[in-house]
Amino acid sequence: MAEIRIVPIRKIKIGSRVLCDIYSKNGSVMLRRGNIMTEAIMEKLESVGVNRVLVEAGTVELEDDEPRKTPLNNDGLPTDNIAQYRDDFLLKKEFEQGKDALLDKDIDGAQDVAKGIAGKIQTSGSIKKELDELKYGTEGVVTHSLNTAVLAGAIGIENGFAPKDIEQLVIGGMLHDIGKLYIDPEILNKKGRLTEKEYEIMKTHAEEGYKKLCDNKGVTQKVRFMAFQHHENNDGTGYPKRLKGEQILWEARILHVVDVYEAMTAKRCYKDHLLPGDVMEFVMGKYSTMFDIKAMDMFLRTIPAYRKGDLVRLSDGTRCQVLESNPINSLRPLVVDLKTMKVIDLYTDRDYLSRTVTELILKEEEVVKTQ
Ligand SMILES: [Fe+2]
Repeated sequence: MAEIRIVPIRKIKIGSRVLCDIYSKNGSVMLRRGNIMTEAIMEKLESVGVNRVLVEAGTVELEDDEPRKTPLNNDGLPTDNIAQYRDDFLLKKEFEQGKDALLDKDIDGAQDVAKGIAGKIQTSGSIKKELDELKYGTEGVVTHSLNTAVLAGAIGIENGFAPKDIEQLVIGGMLHDIGKLYIDPEILNKKGRLTEKEYEIMKTHAEEGYKKLCDNKGVTQKVRFMAFQHHENNDGTGYPKRLKGEQILWEARILHVVDVYEAMTAKRCYKDHLLPGDVMEFVMGKYSTMFDIKAMDMFLRTIPAYRKGDLVRLSDGTRCQVLESNPINSLRPLVVDLKTMKVIDLYTDRDYLSRTVTELILKEEEVVKTQ
């Protein structure tokens, strides 16, 4: 999903009109649609600690863009680094086959791979391990689709769905953005501001995908509508049909949460990736406006912000390792202080209630800081 981006506040052009509400990392509105970005507003946002904001693609004018770092393949899509997945990744073969099928726009092939993924993740014993393998370092529509397929399947598994429903979620995840493969790569991979016209073209991918899936008799109606409706918002502000609440297919509501989460946590050619905790805060801030509450609850039960084994730093500088994620509040896991080896429950330990996780340490040399 290319529509939501994070941009440094200083990148937004002074004097430009903002065409969407701008949100802070916890989902509260920092600047209303229609306002002109001024130096004073910028300073005010920075004074309250906001130096990155979430915007929809093409809705703010940005200062000159940095050159794209990721090379493109023959289809004009960013090259994936699926090959860099660890060799023991259970779905390695399926990801490679899925990538080929999607790039060939082969709906039957992609659907078969999705069925294989659905079968494997239901019998592997620990879907959490597979989810861990999806973290970070992936690029492009194709990998986004594969990741979304696994995440959607995980929600089905963790919430006790029937196997045939899990399979539909995985297939829907795999094929939901198929319409994007028909969008001009110049627009699809454009870094920086999309023109209004380009943005309108980008938005056609939902309906185009639906039409392509309708042309294929082997695809269920449910999967077709997952592609058609995965950008509809719970409050009727989404696209293409501005459907509301229960007008939106249940599976499309689940896919909407997963789609946004995956797009925001993964590294793409046009943006930095966000901390899962930041994304989780954003997603929770969108309770009932963008997302269906029941779908959100299922998502939060399935995908913790911080996972067992993650290295994190707390706001007081303490370096910790996550021992267990917290199913009630995934931003406050059980951790161990790596210096003193003290076990800290960030959810219940009274001495630590004012402290938060501020950094996820990916590797010793690569630290992503929160705002
Ligand atoms: Fe999409």
